[in-house]
Amino acid sequence: MKFFLDTANLDQIREANDLGVLDGVTTNPSLMAKEGIKGVENCKKHYVDICNIVQGDVSAEVIATDYEGMIKEGEELAALHPNIVVKVPCIAEGIKAAKAGATYVSPFVGRLDDICSDGIELVSKIVDMYSYYGFHTQVLAASIRNTQHIIQCIEAGADVATCPLAAIKGLLNHPLTDSGLAKFLEDYKKVNG
Ligand code: G3P
Repeated sequence: MKFFLDTANLDQIREANDLGVLDGVTTNPSLMAKEGIKGVENCKKHYVDICNIVQGDVSAEVIATDYEGMIKEGEELAALHPNIVVKVPCIAEGIKAAKAGATYVSPFVGRLDDICSDGIELVSKIVDMYSYYGFHTQVLAASIRNTQHIIQCIEAGADVATCPLAAIKGLLNHPLTDSGLAKFLEDYKKVNG
């Protein structure tokens, strides 16, 4: 499974990239607003800045909600950098805009859990359906809230999970690794000084 970072924060993107685990970045208008990026040109520049950090897909979401607007905006975003993946909302007009064959479909795991639905179960069902019918669209699990979600996405067979940096770092934490390493170093020092 590929690891994408779900943020527009350049420092976090650099940090995840330096960890050596980053396969791409997803953004959305809320994440861009969180970083204080406003205005069409600043947004475009920010997408290019992200593309210059990570070697992988970088999603840029259209603001338009009508078919013509989505196509126009999507073409402008796609022209910014070869790694830009245009993201459209899963509304009727969005489906029309994506009908040529979407690279990814993106179920929002955490938001489904928030309303007492089962986000991981949906990921699993989409993976099975796409496999059965031979669709090439990849399943990009989003709205990942914690490390356990990431593990469940792997078990469900998701192609990609887009995650907060803290959830990715959580994969690296294990108390037995810490205590084991401390013991190895202690034993080394006992004989080597
Ligand atoms: O990529 C979609 C994602 O950012 C939504 O996450 O945590 O706002 O539900 P969240």
